[in-house]
Amino acid sequence: MKALILSGGAGTRLRPLTHTNAKQLVPIANKPILFYGIEAIRDAGINDIGIVVGDTAKEVEDAVGDGSRWGIKVTYIKQEAPLGLAHAVMISEDYIKDDPFVMYLGDNLLKGGIKDFVDEFHQNTPDSQILLAKVRNPERFGVAEIDEGKVVRLVEKPKKPKSDLALVGLYMFDKSIFKAVKKIRPSWRNELEITDAIQYLIDNGYRVESHIINGWWKDTGKLEDMLEANRLILDTLKMKIDGIVDSESKVEFKVVIEKGAEIIKSVIRGPAIIGKNTKIINSFIGPFTSIEHDVRVENSELEHSIILEGSSILRIGKRIGDSLIGKNVEVYRSEKRPEFYRLMLGDYSKVGVF
Ligand code: DAU
Repeated sequence: MKALILSGGAGTRLRPLTHTNAKQLVPIANKPILFYGIEAIRDAGINDIGIVVGDTAKEVEDAVGDGSRWGIKVTYIKQEAPLGLAHAVMISEDYIKDDPFVMYLGDNLLKGGIKDFVDEFHQNTPDSQILLAKVRNPERFGVAEIDEGKVVRLVEKPKKPKSDLALVGLYMFDKSIFKAVKKIRPSWRNELEITDAIQYLIDNGYRVESHIINGWWKDTGKLEDMLEANRLILDTLKMKIDGIVDSESKVEFKVVIEKGAEIIKSVIRGPAIIGKNTKIINSFIGPFTSIEHDVRVENSELEHSIILEGSSILRIGKRIGDSLIGKNVEVYRSEKRPEFYRLMLGDYSKVGVF
């Protein structure tokens, strides 16, 4: 069995952060989202992985390399433009050949891994197996209609969803999917939809099995989802302090402090992670915060946020919350005080607040 991870696409919903960066490489608890997918696939016993890449190919290749770090073999498949998930499958046929395969959307996170689903697919050998999850906003997803336990209809981002069951970004296929992706036509958003390709399988008598998952799953396409995924992953951390915490600081509850980090006259209330060589001085870091390496936080308060490498947050009077701050950003205090700062800043931004 092989695996195909989709890591191309545009990432428009997370701009400006993803103008130049792959959305799949944004870190959750200081680890790129994509790495969680790679590890879940490896843990399911699959070590031959194809990664579909687009404009951000170089960045993804630099981050993942040849896969030897995980004991797997990675093959990159270049997609010229983000023409849809089914298009990504189509261009991967030469790599997949006749093997059954798992398709994993590189911006999705599934707690508890994928091994059980892969084992079930091996046991039942359907032509395709899909996963569904109950969601509050089905219009943002592919939506399934079920009749007597069977999927009868799949619609991509319907305006009036007929159910609250969304397609999760993990699919299993045998080679019949290659026939289906060649039969379908582009959708209203001009993409070849995998949803339509699976509908083709259903309509033509192929066996498509589904089941509803109960564990959490996140499509990290939007800021709120990214912060929520960060919260869920941070909650699973165990206390580990490899950096320096001075005697005037307090570190409480599920906190990871990486090598070379320094906590000076500060409070870190977990779950939280502080990356390598980051300095926290005279500050408060509240729950559900991830701070990457080489960041400086001074005389400031932060919670429920993700701060990327190389940034600095200095002398901010109010607490910063629910924020995602890119690489090498500078946030510092100037004269007047606003009531609340809510930030989503791209790489190399500089913001002076009053
Ligand atoms: O997250 C689950 C949802 O994912 C499903 O419910 C939908 O049915 C499915 O169409 C998909 O919807 P999105 O609109 O969220 O897909 P997105 O464009 O975000 O792409 C998902 C991943 O695939 C992402 O990592 C980018 C990558 N991708 C996307 C396209 C369109 C590619 O590699 N190539 C592409 O052409």
